[in-house]
Amino acid sequence: MSIRKAVLPVAGWGTRFLPATKAMPKEMLPIIDKPIIQFIVEEFIDAGIENLIFVTGKHKKSIENHFDVNESLEKHLTESGKDDLLYQIRRISHMVNPIYVRQKEQLGLGHAVLTAEAAVGNEPFVVALGDIILENGEGHIRNMIDMFSRFGGSVIALFEVEPETVSKYGVAVVKEKENGVFKIEDVVEKPSPEEAPSNLAIVGRYVFTPSIFDTLKSTKPGKGGEVQLTDAIKLLLEREEVYAYKVDGKVYDTGTPIDYLKTVVEFALRREDVSEELTGFIQSVFSKQNL
Ligand code: UTP
Repeated sequence: MSIRKAVLPVAGWGTRFLPATKAMPKEMLPIIDKPIIQFIVEEFIDAGIENLIFVTGKHKKSIENHFDVNESLEKHLTESGKDDLLYQIRRISHMVNPIYVRQKEQLGLGHAVLTAEAAVGNEPFVVALGDIILENGEGHIRNMIDMFSRFGGSVIALFEVEPETVSKYGVAVVKEKENGVFKIEDVVEKPSPEEAPSNLAIVGRYVFTPSIFDTLKSTKPGKGGEVQLTDAIKLLLEREEVYAYKVDGKVYDTGTPIDYLKTVVEFALRREDVSEELTGFIQSVFSKQNL
């Protein structure tokens, strides 16, 4: 069965980013001049998935507006002859075929995915967290979908983290099934470094069979009183084979101020229009501090 739909849960409070996220979604924070969520949407468009189901909340209207047509802005850009910007703005609004589903209470990532059930229906689908950008994201989505087509089971993306940082993530135990193909044997949500069964962290990209909805329905609130997607995956492991996909490129977390800052600096240093001036600026800040 082919994969046609992706779910993007973007309804969280973003408490680690308050007060910035009081009235603004953290997924709309810019990496220089492009909102985080647009990077993730572009991953899907480039991977050929246009049916995107956003799980949103009350203070997330700007995400809907971002992917909608803005006629007065288009008129302004046309009249002022800013054709490049006009092209970009139009492209964003024609990019996706969005469905917006409301998560009425922020009961956790697992609950957010379950909220999308009616929109997904009885078919496999992809999930991408709205605050993690992957280098070569489109390639990873394609590879995960290929794995799903080959093995017919859910596929979860993992990456290796420093052992002392495991408590930020869901962590997986994997076992080789055949040459280079790994199955997931167990998952644990945010373990302490002492308890962690491995340093393979769940990175926020998943391909799920629709069985995940059944296991989410049986999942009781876990850490933080939230319905954890990791706990539902644990139940899924009892019913079906679940495969591990190892992400070998860079992973950009944007969910906390420091991770966000690092991501912005790294992207800026790679961008031709700003990197030279920024490098000079950073060097001058350091040399002044050393005086
Ligand atoms: P996070 O845990 O990183 O987001 O969830 P959060 O809850 O907004 O952040 P903090 O912990 O309060 O700072 C990962 C993704 O899942 C979404 C978030 O919007 C984010 O994109 N999410 C989380 C939901 O859609 N609903 C929820 O109930 C929780």
